Amino acid sequence: MSWKTKQTANTKLEIRDEPYLTPALIEKITKDIMPRYATNKGALMTTLHEVQHVYGYIPWQAMVEISKVLVISAAEVADVVSFYEDYHSEPMGKNIVGICQSIACEVCGHQALIDHLKDRLGVEVHETSADGKFTLLGMECIGACDMAPCALINGKQYNNISVSMVDDLVDKLSKE
Ligand code: FES
Repeated sequence: MSWKTKQTANTKLEIRDEPYLTPALIEKITKDIMPRYATNKGALMTTLHEVQHVYGYIPWQAMVEISKVLVISAAEVADVVSFYEDYHSEPMGKNIVGICQSIACEVCGHQALIDHLKDRLGVEVHETSADGKFTLLGMECIGACDMAPCALINGKQYNNISVSMVDDLVDKLSKE
């Protein structure tokens, strides 16, 4: 997930009866993914992608289930999910709007983009709009610093982006 600091020491996991790792997913992990790696830990990132592909995010309960299949600690699974921006531990909106907040984009006006999107979508960074259509993320450098400020919207990179450009994109996505 995109980095977000919060107090989790007393978080209570919501556990549903039905496991997230279905028999088909477990078979895929154990028979297809794990044999490709020298260690179980090596198979973790591919396993996480697989689970996220199915659910759109990686629920905390699924992390515990993954840890049991890979025989590693749940903390190790959670560490990887929380470190990489590509993984999400919460449900995402239909559209993911990421604004780069690293140094070059910060200097070139990323805050105006963030402020505008917060107002327009009625969310804080890392939140999803009430209609479920947009999740706003603050992202670390996406590798186009010479064309800052940059955004990653539904996986597509936009460089030298302005408030009016981001507005047009949100308009277009709102209608889809
Ligand atoms: S700092 Fe934004 S793309 Fe590098």
